[in-house]
Amino acid sequence: MSTVVETDVLIVGSGPAGASAALALSTYGVPNIVVTRYASLADTPRAHITNQRTMEVLRDLGVEQEVVAQATPQHLMGNTTFCTSLAGEELGRVRSWGNDPLVQSEHELASPTRMCDMPQHLMEPVLVNAAVARGTRLRFETEYLSHTQDADGVTATVRDRLRGDTYEIRAKYLIGADGGRSKVAADAGLPMGGQMGVAGSINIVFEADLSKYTAHRPSTLYWVLAPGATVGGIGAGLVRCVRPWNEWLIVWGYDVSAGAPDLTTEYAESVVRQLVGDDDIPVTVKSSSAWTVNEMYAESYANGRVFCAGDAVHRHPPSNGLGSNTSIQDAYNLAWKLKLVLDGTAHPRLLDSYTAERAPVGRQIVTRANRSIRETAPVFEALDGLSPQTPEQLWANIAARKDATEAAEKQRAKLREAIAFKVYEFNAHGVDLNQRYPADGSAAIVPDGTPDPGFARDPELHHQPSSRPGARLPHAWITSGTSTLSTLDTIGGGRFTLLTGIGGEAWVRAAEAHAVDIATVVIGPGQPYEDPYGDWARLREIPDAGALLVRPDGFVAFRHAGAGPDTGELLAEDAGKLLTDALRRILGHA
Ligand code: FDA
Repeated sequence: MSTVVETDVLIVGSGPAGASAALALSTYGVPNIVVTRYASLADTPRAHITNQRTMEVLRDLGVEQEVVAQATPQHLMGNTTFCTSLAGEELGRVRSWGNDPLVQSEHELASPTRMCDMPQHLMEPVLVNAAVARGTRLRFETEYLSHTQDADGVTATVRDRLRGDTYEIRAKYLIGADGGRSKVAADAGLPMGGQMGVAGSINIVFEADLSKYTAHRPSTLYWVLAPGATVGGIGAGLVRCVRPWNEWLIVWGYDVSAGAPDLTTEYAESVVRQLVGDDDIPVTVKSSSAWTVNEMYAESYANGRVFCAGDAVHRHPPSNGLGSNTSIQDAYNLAWKLKLVLDGTAHPRLLDSYTAERAPVGRQIVTRANRSIRETAPVFEALDGLSPQTPEQLWANIAARKDATEAAEKQRAKLREAIAFKVYEFNAHGVDLNQRYPADGSAAIVPDGTPDPGFARDPELHHQPSSRPGARLPHAWITSGTSTLSTLDTIGGGRFTLLTGIGGEAWVRAAEAHAVDIATVVIGPGQPYEDPYGDWARLREIPDAGALLVRPDGFVAFRHAGAGPDTGELLAEDAGKLLTDALRRILGHA
């Protein structure tokens, strides 16, 4: 007799999207099961760059310090180098990932967290172990095959790959976090735009002590301009640090129309030798695999009770390091909504805001990552390295930049400019932190009627804090007694939070009396939280008696300046009605 296994949320996939969905749901007390096809978590490094927004999510989910303990720290990430090989000539560097002194201050002002480099094969165990410890039931070697859905739930058929038999799992919701070849997204009929297989790439994981070529210019990325480096791939050859300075991953392109080369150890070693440029260094190739650069995103992330997250709905190259970051942030956006729908606090309409908020972000990062590949071409152009030519010609063009001629001086300037322009890939702080969920797209954001001032500086490069509905709550250091904490530490934990100041007692009373669980935070002299530096007062964009209602995922859902609608003075009943109306809209009851 076959038994149907039951749960609230079934998650397919244990990558960054699935693992973080499980962690968030278990943290919120929502029963969930993860099924994953293979016998282990990721066994190759893949995603590394972990941006501040993701670190904030991990901070709320209680695993930030574990990640920090295992990750390569920010200060060892930052000398992105362009060279002819690691042992060869250096062409220039970009101070990256917040390591430019000017950008560093922007990072420090933006968040209580620091960017770091956390390889995916280390990240996944942190997420999964914490999820399992909090209640997730995890099944390895279990493959999702198909699903059907009805008015009350989803029935998925899975195969136990150990025993070979199939069984059914009945869940109220299904999350497809099954990566770039998502069967869940295909079965749910999610419409995808763009193109798969734009270019061919090979990953080669190897061990070698390369400290003599890297420790003096510590970086997570060394880009190699060499013969063949513009064929396929991600813009140039890449030697990527996995662990400083003896574990590495090379990304090298191939002509996708000709198909992937035979990935023998000899072939892999020859690529390693070319990019390292030193035949005397002992090298151990651990693995090699072929993959394609994709430029695809889904227009909708959901169909009925089926939701997809991560690479299942946005497929793009690793440029800008956005893949696992966006996948974790998708899951974090979805988890609290599922929790509130499942416990009856919210109407299922709240779940519509998942696509409304995350699909534009997915489209943006797919576009950004692919544009970053194209923006590497000017580096080659500066060296006349794009047109078909012999290796000797390329080396001669590269050498020509050292001449004492007017032409060479122009070439040097062009090369400097092309390399400096790569900040859009390696220092795009705004891409990491400026996500805004528009109130005209998402019902879980209540417009406050103020005009959007837009961005004062390049929104891809510079983060601009804002307390407008739809923006992430600005970070400011505040105090509570002798503790110093971030405003972001006062929110999260699966709850709404209302922030106000002196004169905002009516908001506090309204929040405390509301049926929805709302934490309250009062900031001001003599209040539970104080603002000794005045940072919060400068960032909050509302008067003392105003209020910000912040969602469990840290986004401002509702903002009010604090004056009553008729009287100009905020009464308890005004605050109660404003808050109730806002929550009715946010939670899909309006
Ligand atoms: P992911 O592919 O990681 O996981 C899918 C999961 O679903 C797996 O557990 C798989 O076993 C499971 N699965 C699939 N089909 C199944 C089925 N039918 N049944 C059951 N389970 C199934 N990103 C980033 O943010 N920073 C970076 O620096 C980089 N760098 C980088 C370098 C290289 C070389 C690559 C190739 C990629 C990156 N990325 C990156 C991208 C990053 O690796 C990618 O975006 C994330 O892994 C996506 O996470 P997901 O959880 O969505 O899918």
